[in-house]
Amino acid sequence: MAIHKLLCIFLFFLHFYSGHSELQLNYYSQSCPNAEEIVKENVIKLYEEHGNTAVSWLRTLFHDCMVKSCDASILLESINGIQSEKTSKRNIGMRNFKYINTIKDALESSCPMTVSCADLVALSARDGIVMLGGPHVEMKTGRKDSMESHLAEIDSLLPNHNDSMLYVLDRFQSIGIDVEGTVALLGAHSVGRVHCMNLVDRLYPTVDPTLDPSFAEYLKHRCPHQNPDPRAVEYARSDLQTPMILDNMYYKNIKNNKGLLLVDQQLVSNPLTSPFVEKMAADNDYFHDTFAKAFLTLSENNPVSEEEGEVRRDCRFVNRN
Ligand code: HEM
Ligand SMILES: *[C@@H]1O[C@H](CO)[C@@H](O)[C@H](O)[C@H]1NC(C)=O
Repeated sequence: MAIHKLLCIFLFFLHFYSGHSELQLNYYSQSCPNAEEIVKENVIKLYEEHGNTAVSWLRTLFHDCMVKSCDASILLESINGIQSEKTSKRNIGMRNFKYINTIKDALESSCPMTVSCADLVALSARDGIVMLGGPHVEMKTGRKDSMESHLAEIDSLLPNHNDSMLYVLDRFQSIGIDVEGTVALLGAHSVGRVHCMNLVDRLYPTVDPTLDPSFAEYLKHRCPHQNPDPRAVEYARSDLQTPMILDNMYYKNIKNNKGLLLVDQQLVSNPLTSPFVEKMAADNDYFHDTFAKAFLTLSENNPVSEEEGEVRRDCRFVNRN
């Protein structure tokens, strides 16, 4: 009896002090009923003006959520002792952050200090996926924003373009995403671009023999320098046919040895992942379903609690009183 009581008390405290918060569908239904609509309207408007914003929202969620928590830490600027995650080499090429501010401003003018930047990252990714022809993901809300940057942890938590597939699978496993889900998530590389510095190792001094020769020619044409200036806007596209559509063309391409990154190509050569590549290349609906499930899990990684986080007024800075 006594032990049961103690256990109950322990579980009670664990529930409130584990540092996790409960996400729920329509968390803002009372506090800001139009929150999700405001995000969606703005994502659509921005997509119509700058299509690649939708692509950005996808990558932003990955880089935010994979590093400790979906807590909008990625959006913080370097100021007042904070070192921005944007300065990490892993985050090269990330773009359109200024339009996050556009959406946040719209939220603030309807519902001041109510909707977190972390939920904005999540909801904009959800709506961006739809603009790119991908699946609808039923997303919960209620995330809080971090008070700190996780710059120091990025290199150990966020996979690099040339990491081994076993390492990549292990990273995703650690946040509850299995092999099938990992293969599906990498399908995000069906859209967007890769800067030359992330792929020149596959071209110089010798061309990676696993690359399709004509695709290697295209890549060398796009990336003529072995050591590209990091500031140069030299990049290539992985999916030349449908670069703005989140479809299974990515899997068809990597099967044909037309993957941009070493991790992309390894999906085909690794025996754990290759059966899923086959299935996704053959079935776009299956890809979309699996992608939606894994993306949801990614978006719910370790949300910060009410006590540990806040709702930032401006996504670039922690609030100061
Ligand atoms: C092993 C895992 C992954 C690695 C190593 C990786 C690495 C990269 C690299 C190196 C780029 C090129 C950046 C540039 O040069 O501009 C890129 C682009 C991109 N990644 Fe990933 N990525 C991974 C997984 C994911 C996941 C899970 C998502 C989202 C679900 C994602 C979404 C994107 C998008 C949308 C782009 C294009 C960005 C743009 O065009 O602005 N990636 N990724
Ligand atoms: C992976 O690429 C980075 C540069 O992006 C390089 O510094 C590192 O040595 C590479 N690692 C391997 C194992 O080739």
